[in-house]
Amino acid sequence: MNREDFDMLTNSNIIYFDNGATTLKPKCVVKEVVDYYTKYTANAHRGDYNISQIVDEKYEGVRDKIKNFIHANRRDEIVYTKGTTESINTVVFGFMKNHLKPNDEILITKSEHASNILPWIELAKRIGVIVKYIPLNSEHEVTIDNLLKSITSRTKVVSLAHITNSIGDIRPIEAIGKICKEKNILFVVDAAQSIGHLPIDVEKDNISFLAFSAHKMLGPTGIGVLYGKYDLLNKLVPNEYGGGMNSYFESSGELEYKPLPERLEAGTQNIAGVLGMGAAIDYLSHIGLESIHKHEMELKEYAVRELSKVPNIKIYNQTSKSGIVIFNIDKIFSQDTAVFLNSFNICVRAGNHCAKIVKDELNVSNTCRASFYLYNTKEEIDKLIEALKKQDKIFEIIL
Ligand code: ALA
Repeated sequence: MNREDFDMLTNSNIIYFDNGATTLKPKCVVKEVVDYYTKYTANAHRGDYNISQIVDEKYEGVRDKIKNFIHANRRDEIVYTKGTTESINTVVFGFMKNHLKPNDEILITKSEHASNILPWIELAKRIGVIVKYIPLNSEHEVTIDNLLKSITSRTKVVSLAHITNSIGDIRPIEAIGKICKEKNILFVVDAAQSIGHLPIDVEKDNISFLAFSAHKMLGPTGIGVLYGKYDLLNKLVPNEYGGGMNSYFESSGELEYKPLPERLEAGTQNIAGVLGMGAAIDYLSHIGLESIHKHEMELKEYAVRELSKVPNIKIYNQTSKSGIVIFNIDKIFSQDTAVFLNSFNICVRAGNHCAKIVKDELNVSNTCRASFYLYNTKEEIDKLIEALKKQDKIFEIIL
């Protein structure tokens, strides 16, 4: 799909299967960033001259695009951050730390990525909340039944990835959101792996807070979004104070902070990143997330079918419904396999994928991960299969 839009694909002969880590950027995203640096470089919200007004319009226009993309009610529910990690940390330490009490329970799973586990563990150490793991089924998925069994009268938060970065399972967030609403539980969704792959509707899914990064949806690195329902976000205490977030301050200490979203955006933001993220949203919206997901599922099913025919390959997530396949060659360390595949110009990720306790579920600590996106093809998967068929040469090649 649209391979000619990606200079990385036309300028090199790589097969890029590491889209879970970051995605390639289409020309329109690169152009938007370069245009900012070459045609109208100015700060946002601070100038009274023409180019600064161009920047303001574009910068705030992206907020509207994001609002529409995730179906938020209000544009001031959209806060720019560095990415998913900052967004979740902001929720945990700017809101939950003040809102939760000792022994309140937070439900997560062992297949979350580090940024949806460590802030909660740290919060537990600081204020005595309890982090509990929803048991997963034999396919390593969250089921409604297991969620319901895990909820107690002390459950105050459910915090889950929409799609996990190792198993690649899609969580039933609409049903989970409904349960959270009925039981008055806050629902935090880490959309890092899903935002550029599946539609999301924060209102329909009753999401309290949503976090994502632009770089996993064809956008630049270092920019992302925190969405929060207005009444919740409005109670979030800023982690950073400085320019852009205050209306005035006096030497006496008298001051006033700005309303949302500026209150949570202290200092000069990653303006080029915001504009590039806007171009990525336009690009994805033009193709349609449903078409992208369908394409990824065709690739996933093809990859699983073909990999299953290669001797000594174990696949750990055959049934998950996104474009992520994790596998190993029997008795071969995953990083050796990744280095071996690199000799065929195939980029995969090896290791624990920052989901360091998913090993308790999978009974394996390290895997190779091929994560597909819209520009990948079955022909590229054929090349992966051809390479893996040469596995008996692995140590000749990598040593
Ligand atoms: N979270 C990213 C990944 O899954 C870095 O690879």
